[in-house]
Amino acid sequence: MPSSTRQWILNSKPTAAPVLDGPNPTFKLTTTALPKPSATQALVKTLMLSNDPAQRTWISAGADPERMYYPPIPEGAPMGSGGLAEVIESGDAEKLPVGSIVVASTNWTEYSVQEIASCRVIQSIEGLDLGHFLGALGLTGLTAYYGIKEVAAATRDDTVVVSGAAGATGSMVVQIAKKIIGCKRVIGIAGSDDKCRWVEKLGADVCINYKKDTFEQDLIRETDGFVEVYFDNVGGDTLDLMLTRMKRHGRIAACGSISNYNKGESAGLKNAFEIISSRLHIHGFIVLDYLHKFAEVVAELVGAWKEGKIILDDSMQTVVDTKFEDVPKTWLKLFEGGNTGKLITRIVQ
Ligand SMILES: NC(=O)c1ccc[n+]([C@@H]2O[C@H](COP(=O)([O-])OP(=O)(O)OC[C@H]3O[C@@H](n4cnc5c(N)ncnc54)[C@H](OP(=O)(O)O)[C@@H]3O)[C@@H](O)[C@H]2O)c1
Repeated sequence: MPSSTRQWILNSKPTAAPVLDGPNPTFKLTTTALPKPSATQALVKTLMLSNDPAQRTWISAGADPERMYYPPIPEGAPMGSGGLAEVIESGDAEKLPVGSIVVASTNWTEYSVQEIASCRVIQSIEGLDLGHFLGALGLTGLTAYYGIKEVAAATRDDTVVVSGAAGATGSMVVQIAKKIIGCKRVIGIAGSDDKCRWVEKLGADVCINYKKDTFEQDLIRETDGFVEVYFDNVGGDTLDLMLTRMKRHGRIAACGSISNYNKGESAGLKNAFEIISSRLHIHGFIVLDYLHKFAEVVAELVGAWKEGKIILDDSMQTVVDTKFEDVPKTWLKLFEGGNTGKLITRIVQ
């Protein structure tokens, strides 16, 4: 059994985009001793890491803990992350046998000691890659379901716009809106023509490339008559523009604002008066408030997949084989548009 592990720690909180090289890199690779697991713990080996834009918000310089939903990571502490791991030693083999595959807060470590009670055991499903338990059947799938069904309360009569539509959450929002709820029209927004065509394959009626010069006209044309629901993954200029495309009493599920995460501060909304004049409902939410529904939602999504309603194939994840020393590099792909579906780091030697 290993008595030490390599881990990435937060070396210096970034004020803009994280930096991997130079005199003051954001992260540092270190080695630390591993305690022996107690009777309530297990030693696990990280197989895959979940890459989440929100991790950027946990390490921001100047983040006020009182305004955060998750305690900021202090400098010198391991970089926080969820992961899929294999149990290699168990303090209670009846509760958690060696060889079990679990989802846990592995952080960016090769090995870690976890409380057994905090490990979510994964039962593999034939035909589904394990990575999906970090994405479509993990927290991002749950986020999509919570946001579109409960927060935005989308119905068959609604037209829904989804930004970040080719990402982990957005690609599930598109499918749930169109294939499970049966929304009248689903309009995706994504960062390349290839991504847009893929989002249309998932069921969007149309997907618009926000990096094209014609984006604003394209969005105005596709939202002629205005829309009832906007699922916002990106914030910034796209949110501002969408405020002008909402129907009176329209609902916005404020899920994320990745366009702001590497900026020192969020820009104010130019079109904020639209919120007032159109009586918009903007509802921020955090998936952690919905964890009690996890098993139920995963069962519904797996059922929808078995019925052929939703797609959970390799296109729904971008799995990057990554040496442990390159873990931060793979994570940064999130901010470069380097993924369709869920970005997964698979640890290789
Ligand atoms: N509220 C919650 O509980 C909760 C839970 C999970 C996630 N979230 C939020 O949901 C959003 C999506 O998260 P995810 O995990 O599904 O990741 P994701 O969408 O897979 O994130 C990566 C994608 O974001 C897009 N992106 C990157 N930089 C951008 C920018 N400056 N402007 C616009 N788009 C940009 C890129 O796609 P393009 O090529 O299309 O630009 C990239 O491929 C994030 O904002 C995240 O913080 C919230």
